[in-house]
Amino acid sequence: MAIIMDGNRLSRDVRNHVTSEALRLKQNRGIVPGLAVILVGEDAASKIYVKRKESACKEVGFLSREFRLPHDTTQKKILQIIRELNHDQSIHGILVQLPLPGHINPDTVIETIDPRKDVDGFHPWNVGRLFSGDPYHIACTPRGIVEMIDRHGIEIEGKEAVIVGRSNIVGKPLALLLLNRHATVTICHSRTKNLSEVTKRADILIAAAGRPEMIKSGMIKDGAVVIDVGINRLDNGRLVGDVAFAEVAEKASHITPVPGGVGPMTIAMLLVNTLKAASL
Ligand code: GUN
Repeated sequence: MAIIMDGNRLSRDVRNHVTSEALRLKQNRGIVPGLAVILVGEDAASKIYVKRKESACKEVGFLSREFRLPHDTTQKKILQIIRELNHDQSIHGILVQLPLPGHINPDTVIETIDPRKDVDGFHPWNVGRLFSGDPYHIACTPRGIVEMIDRHGIEIEGKEAVIVGRSNIVGKPLALLLLNRHATVTICHSRTKNLSEVTKRADILIAAAGRPEMIKSGMIKDGAVVIDVGINRLDNGRLVGDVAFAEVAEKASHITPVPGGVGPMTIAMLLVNTLKAASL
């Protein structure tokens, strides 16, 4: 039976560290880290994520400013808010929750954020810094995954890492992060042929495809480390990841649960990035 990588526990350790660092920052320099969170529209999942981010901020003593905008907000209005926040000394991090409504261009929105306040790590400047091996703000989910691996004392260097999913938010930045840590990295996606032949090579397998329980035990190597980024609601209401947890846990050495795995780490890394932005 695999070791369960408990994201709730690991993220609590990170949040405790952030809390004490934030206190030091306030005592020594009078700075309170401030995060602005912008949510446009009524996406149900986004509302939950945003609420979690805001309450995490408050828990560690950050200032949290919330912008809940109606679905029909113009792009111009959003850009205007971002430009004001870029110049606001009390705000160190700016986060626009994705996805945005169809009439708004997410690239334009992200490129308007001051890269030093882009605590999601989505701005091309931050993506480029990661690409060149000298990252500034690293996207929260990939960073949280590497943090989980590190905190379990699992070596990355020289390992075969296989990522299923090539999104800009998870798959691609995670590949760069693991490459920077000297893993041999393969990215698979919906058009990959013989997927299970590739996934079976993985010492570290990351599932980030958004397809419920697609990774079966027959697709992994004995003793693999299996990280599940998926979060899917089944018709019967059950919440599952991209990994068939029960059967894969029999064969893996380490596995993350859903919920309570990667999700809490994503939020913890948002706090770490915001603390960094405030400390400079
Ligand atoms: N939507 C899904 N994941 C994320 C994330 O990490 N940040 C933002 N801003 N939106 C998301």
